[in-house]
Amino acid sequence: MSDVNTGFILSMIAQHATEVAAIASARLTGFGRKNDADQAAVDAMRRAFQTAPFSGKVVIGEGEIDEAPMLYIGEQLGAGGIKTDIAVDPLEGTKLCASDAPNAMTVVALAPEGGLLHAPDMYMDKLAIGAGYPAGLIDLDLSPRENVQRLAKAKGVSVSAIRACLLDRPRHEAIIEDLRSLGAGIRLIPDGDVAGVFWTTEAARSGVDIYFGSGGAPEGVLAAAAIRCAGGQMQARLKPENDQEEQRARAMGRDVHAKLTLDDMVPGNVVFAASGVTHGSMFDGVHFEAGQAHVETLVWDSFSKRKSRVRSIYPDA
Ligand code: FBP
Repeated sequence: MSDVNTGFILSMIAQHATEVAAIASARLTGFGRKNDADQAAVDAMRRAFQTAPFSGKVVIGEGEIDEAPMLYIGEQLGAGGIKTDIAVDPLEGTKLCASDAPNAMTVVALAPEGGLLHAPDMYMDKLAIGAGYPAGLIDLDLSPRENVQRLAKAKGVSVSAIRACLLDRPRHEAIIEDLRSLGAGIRLIPDGDVAGVFWTTEAARSGVDIYFGSGGAPEGVLAAAAIRCAGGQMQARLKPENDQEEQRARAMGRDVHAKLTLDDMVPGNVVFAASGVTHGSMFDGVHFEAGQAHVETLVWDSFSKRKSRVRSIYPDA
């Protein structure tokens, strides 16, 4: 099968999975039940994958087989076809969904077998920028200040015209102080760092030039898929918090101290898809009207370089 057809089929599968998961979890926005909303997304996404025309294997999922009954790492899904690695975050921003706050979304990345890093569920340091800069401009081993200075120089603007995005967490205080003293702008987000990284791919529209800080490693690989489609730059490093996490990472064949490049995380072509659950700056959230569910989805396919924003309407069964 040609690369373009592979990308097309994986795009359709990814789009359907994120859409049905978004609609399922959107029914539970604002009820303070983050686990129920997450479970609704997981169930819907898994059903969509079960009958999809591919031979999928979950590499980034809900957890190991003993802790997650569905979409567990290693689970085989699909009705047969292209051998595919599946990365999912069925509901990214469970708390955002539970409190009907902006930017809850459903996310999937699909790549031919071997095309996505098998990342353990632990923290990861992340650094990302969008396309259009010289290769190797940013580096996780440089300080945030140095990365912002390099970026400002490459963009031909002063550092005050650069905006960084970080999760609003005490663990990021030192970075925030450093960037504030430099004079860079900062967007602090309560949750949802897939969106934070994604925004760097549409800097003019989103206002975010660079993403910093630690968050979930699974979210990191999903975000790396978007950066791969965009032609941007990203580096990451796993951040195990105890011996058990370190052992888990090693058991998955990961060197916990290694700096991960985009090629390590997403070595080749990939499809990235995300659908809005709550209203946000990336998407309109799902709305239900006259017996129908309206959902907005972004599908990015690096095989054909096609990026689409799709509004779909499903019967509100
Ligand atoms: P959930 O959807 O699993 O709640 O994750 C939301 C999130 O904000 C991610 O986007 C991010 O990677 C991670 O949590 C950060 O974890 P923490 O809240 O522990 O800082």
